This record gives sequence, structure tokens and C-alpha cells, in this order.
Amino acid sequence: MKQIEIKNLTYSYDHESLAVDHVSFSIEKGSYTTIIGHNGSGKSTIAKLIIGLLEAESGEIFVDGLPLNLENLAAIRSKVGIVFQNPDNQFIGATVRDDIAFGLENHCVEQEKMDDIINRFAEKVNMTRYLDSEPSHLSGGQKQRVAIAGVLAMNPDVIIFDESTSMLDPQGKDEINRVIQELHADKKMTIISITHNIEEVAQSDHVLVLEKGKVVMEGDPKEILLQTDKLIKMNLDIPFSVKMQLELAKNGIKADQYISMEGLVNELCQYNLKK
Ligand SMILES: Nc1ncnc2c1ncn2[C@@H]1O[C@H](COP(=O)(O)OP(=O)(O)OP(=O)(O)O)[C@@H](O)[C@H]1O
Ligand SMILES: [Mg+2]
Repeated sequence: MKQIEIKNLTYSYDHESLAVDHVSFSIEKGSYTTIIGHNGSGKSTIAKLIIGLLEAESGEIFVDGLPLNLENLAAIRSKVGIVFQNPDNQFIGATVRDDIAFGLENHCVEQEKMDDIINRFAEKVNMTRYLDSEPSHLSGGQKQRVAIAGVLAMNPDVIIFDESTSMLDPQGKDEINRVIQELHADKKMTIISITHNIEEVAQSDHVLVLEKGKVVMEGDPKEILLQTDKLIKMNLDIPFSVKMQLELAKNGIKADQYISMEGLVNELCQYNLKK
């Protein structure tokens, strides 16, 4: 079943050049989609269009079959959560606790349940000891964690992560990526992750590649990530295992085509045993 459907979407900031240029795609319920593309290719603009923060010049957006318009805006916003690229944009509360609570208050959640939810999600992103801190006093990565907790607390059907782990240290990135995987696997939440992390792309189940506001490639990760010439030409990264296979091929060792390290390492071990 389609969770999000986008048809012929176009947007321009300056009424001259198109930041989003006749884009169409759909996102299946419960899927994990990654969106990649170089800086300025239109990724964040598409995310803002989906939650109705920007109004499309032309084209249509449907969420669970509902067309995005003024009438359905509130219903759609309760279904789709977003963690922005720059966490400074999403703080309004005096404390971290207030910020995580903000969306819940709007949804009329009882106080007792609210405390429980706040504590649970603060713990998930490892920010429990900052619950009474002022958000503006946090580091960029800590702000990202709070923003993520706030969106998770709302329990939306879809979460859009717009480079939400870009400011986190490697351990923080791993923690949050694990939370994302968990939401997808256990809660069957629909995930849309805008990312420059190509290893994360390999773990998703649907990939969109954007260039100059257009979708130029779309498919499952294996289909996309093994088109190395195209990706390299677009100045996009390729997974480490694929780089390794290219180097091995230069030395006459042909491995089957893997987009993650696990399969490649297994095959190389077999190869070594045979020798
Ligand atoms: N507020 C704005 N006003 C005017 N132009 C904008 C604005 N935001 C983005 N643009 C332009 O729209 C295009 C798409 O930008 P967008 O932010 O969607 O790119 P992106 O793919 O998210 O890039 P990044 O990887 O750097 O986050 C770019 O050419 C950018 O300069
Ligand atoms: Mg962006």
C-alpha cells in the first residue's frame, strides 16, 4: 500500500530555476527509503513540500491517499514527522523536557502518560540528564538528539530524517541509526532518510537519487549502488565493499557483487580457503 505518492511535483524559490523539477515517486507503507544527491539537488525542498511547509508550484502529494491541501494539512502533519537538517529551527521550549512535550501537548496527551513518554524517548537518544537544560545551551549533536526524541514521542506513521545525524559523533550516529532500524523493523514505521551516508543507503530498501531537482535513479539499493560509473560521475560516494571489489577486480579477483562487507568477507574467506 502506498503511504506517500508524489506526482509531477515542481517548486521554485525564485520563480526562475526549479529546485524540484517534475518529480514523481511513491513510498510504500513500512518501507525504508533513502534519498541521496549532491548539495542543492532538492532533497530538503522535497521534504518541506511533503509536510506542507512549502507550497508546490504544480503537482500533487498524497499521504495515505489524502491529497495535501489546507483542509488536510493538520491530519497529514499528525501522520508525518520530520527531523530537520538544522536542529536550531525546531526549538521553542524553555527546557529540553518542554521541547519533547510540545507536540504531545498539542495532541492532548494526559500529563502522567506524557512524563512517561518524555522519559522513554529522552533515554532512547541518551539525553535523560539534560531534560531540565535549556535547549539553546546544547551542542549541535545534542540538539539533534532532542529533535529526534520530540518527533519519536509523537509516534507518527512516517518519519523523515533530513541528514539528522550529520552533527553526531560516530557513536551517536550508530546509536541513532540503530533507533531508525528498530523503528522500521519492530514498529513497521515508514522511514524516509535523506543522507550522505552511503553505508546507510545499502541498508535501506528503496533508494532515490536526485540531481538538479530531478529523480535520476530509483530502485533497490543493490540495483543503484552497483552502477558505480554513474554514481562516480555524479560525484556520489559508493559503499566501501563496492570500492574494494573494484580494486580486487583490477588485481584479477572477481567477487560476486556485494553492497555490504559481510558477503564480500565471506566470499574472500572461501577464496582463501580454496587457495
Ligand atoms: N530558502 C531558500 N531560498 C532560496 N533558494 C533556496 C532556499 N533553500 C534552498 N534553495 C535552493 O534550492 C535548491 C535545492 O536546495 P535544497 O536545500 O533542497 O538542497 P539539498 O539537496 O537539501 O542540499 P543539501 O545536501 O546541501 O542539504 C538549491 O539550489 C538551493 O540553493
Ligand atoms: Mg538539505
